[in-house]
Amino acid sequence: MVKIPTMKTVLIIVCVFVLTQISAQTILRGPYLQTPNENSIIIKWRTDVATDSKVTYGTDVNNLTETTVLPGSRTDHTIQLTGLDDYRSYFYSVGNTTNMLTTPSSDYSFKTNPIPGTKIPIRAWAIGDFGKGNTQQVEVKQSYVNYTDTTHTDVWFWLGDNAYADGKDHEYDEKVFAVAGFSDIFSKQPFWPTPGNHDYNEVWEQSTLLGIPYSNIPFSQHEGPYYEIVDVPEQGEAGGVPSDYELFYSFDYGNVHFLSLNSEVYDFTQTYDGINQMKAWIEQDLIQNEQTFTVAYFHQPPYSKGSHDSDDIYERVMIAMREKVIPLLEEYDIDLVVCGHSHVFERSHLIHGHYGNSGSFDPSTMLKDGSNGNFTQGNAYVKDDEPSTADGTVYVVCGNSGSKTSSSTLDHPIMHYSAGGDTEVGSFVMDIYRNRLDGKYLHASGQILDEFTIVKQDMKVELEDISVCTGDNVILSPLISGGSDDLSYNWSTLGSTNASVTVSSQDIGTHTLIITDNVSGQVENLTFEITQGTNMSLSFSNDTLWATGNNGYQWYLDGVIISGETNDYIIPTVAGDYTVSALDSTCQSNSYSYEPLGIEAYAFKDFAIYPNPSKGEVNISLNETELPAGYEITDVSGKTVRNGRLTKKQTVLDLSSLPSGTYMITVSQQQKSQTLKIVLNN
Ligand SMILES: [Fe+2]
Repeated sequence: MVKIPTMKTVLIIVCVFVLTQISAQTILRGPYLQTPNENSIIIKWRTDVATDSKVTYGTDVNNLTETTVLPGSRTDHTIQLTGLDDYRSYFYSVGNTTNMLTTPSSDYSFKTNPIPGTKIPIRAWAIGDFGKGNTQQVEVKQSYVNYTDTTHTDVWFWLGDNAYADGKDHEYDEKVFAVAGFSDIFSKQPFWPTPGNHDYNEVWEQSTLLGIPYSNIPFSQHEGPYYEIVDVPEQGEAGGVPSDYELFYSFDYGNVHFLSLNSEVYDFTQTYDGINQMKAWIEQDLIQNEQTFTVAYFHQPPYSKGSHDSDDIYERVMIAMREKVIPLLEEYDIDLVVCGHSHVFERSHLIHGHYGNSGSFDPSTMLKDGSNGNFTQGNAYVKDDEPSTADGTVYVVCGNSGSKTSSSTLDHPIMHYSAGGDTEVGSFVMDIYRNRLDGKYLHASGQILDEFTIVKQDMKVELEDISVCTGDNVILSPLISGGSDDLSYNWSTLGSTNASVTVSSQDIGTHTLIITDNVSGQVENLTFEITQGTNMSLSFSNDTLWATGNNGYQWYLDGVIISGETNDYIIPTVAGDYTVSALDSTCQSNSYSYEPLGIEAYAFKDFAIYPNPSKGEVNISLNETELPAGYEITDVSGKTVRNGRLTKKQTVLDLSSLPSGTYMITVSQQQKSQTLKIVLNN
């Protein structure tokens, strides 16, 4: 007999099926990381089975204390972690609320960005035209992994043509995410992409499906796998001005501002609509940019004699970028432009103002520095930090991180170094620290075949004139911003080469400090004055301390300002060391040590008279345990002018009939007495 399953049995079977499906869920792509900033990051991954999304994370790989869950069901998962600490390493694991899919380890980790503007050492790595899924792509990646070793990669940027031949979804899987040996960096290394023409083949395909001619796609309808895969900061999430589209964007890392531009917005109709829209954003972005270095990257280079020739009239995108975008970037004195597309490596001198074909390059006006830019040979490209004065730009083409070519002339006149050929594959490495940027061509063999340095003369020094007081020693230190951490000091007239010097009134006069930035060569020559501070003197007479001088007065007790005591005299009532200074100087006078009345002075602990000086009425207060007590008021000649009996904690005496002057008020009780002075200004 066939047993018919009950409803309960059916439910159990369904549940077991679902659970089996979830537990069998596998990751098809990633996890990979996007748009880190100083307190958040986006984690994305793709699974074969749709579930909810969950990330656990924390700073201890053995104890992931935080959890973020996204309800609902999907196969393409995106979770943004927020509330993170800046410039800190985290570990994470991805999965769903039933099952985690990765095991916490250093392979699943990331480091948040530093606060924008922070001057920390930065390592950046750029690859172009790499997405071929070939052995050269993996060799290039491995040469970089070996080169950087334990140095953290802060910025990994892509120069376009990320997935050949058409930027299709499966091509991204096969030639980028899943390439053996290449895939293992995605879970710990965010990337900052730009699209190339091959990635745009699919964007154009999508626009055709939408019925839009691919020559002029509105920004809002640039669609396709590239835009589904990336999650770039279109709203200025990592610094910079919002671009409102993922097509192009900017971000800060430390003291470097990066612009990821899009050469593919050129619309082939020669109306430049797309380029002009991008330029409007570039200008807004660069106006607000205050970072030490600015680097722009995009796919199709303005200058190349590699597999693409920027003189070729059919290279309309290269020409459009050179003619329309480069003048704007140079107007804001951009430091470095890095591109791909041409399957070679080329690196220019420091140039400015070259917007025509290669034949129009005029070294006499456009070559800002024709040296090799080698720092150790003393040839670094030196720039100031004023965006308004264009000192020149270095142009790099690195479209050989997986692609290569043997058909190229490599003779563009702006280039200092050009390399192509069947074995010529590599990547571009940058190191930035404070005011120095080093660029290096890392060949897949592991060799650095070209390197250059750009330095900024951005040191600013302040040192104020000072006045010193007789007998004092003052430490002088200039206030320095910008510059490198390798500075030389020459206090020429004070005979010191230390960062700070100690001066005294022996050093009154005009002095010179010369500070040299040994990295940029910047020299700052400062002149400053050391003047003698006003030293007052004081004297004691008639129960009063008197100050000499006419620059105002401030009295001190034991080195602390006595609030409100700014007359040329003070009547000390409290024991201690009294000094006075002029208002234009902190120099202290000679000190007067005041002892009120010896041991018996403290016979009445809470005895006080106020105000003092007083006009008319005087309050006498005593502790109630010391009542009743007698009092006697004498003038400076010792004559008693008033006496009586105190029976309350506070007694008000009307002394308005007495002549102005100094008086002594003595309180006595049995064997003890205490005297205080008071000045009447009746
Ligand atoms: Fe390309």
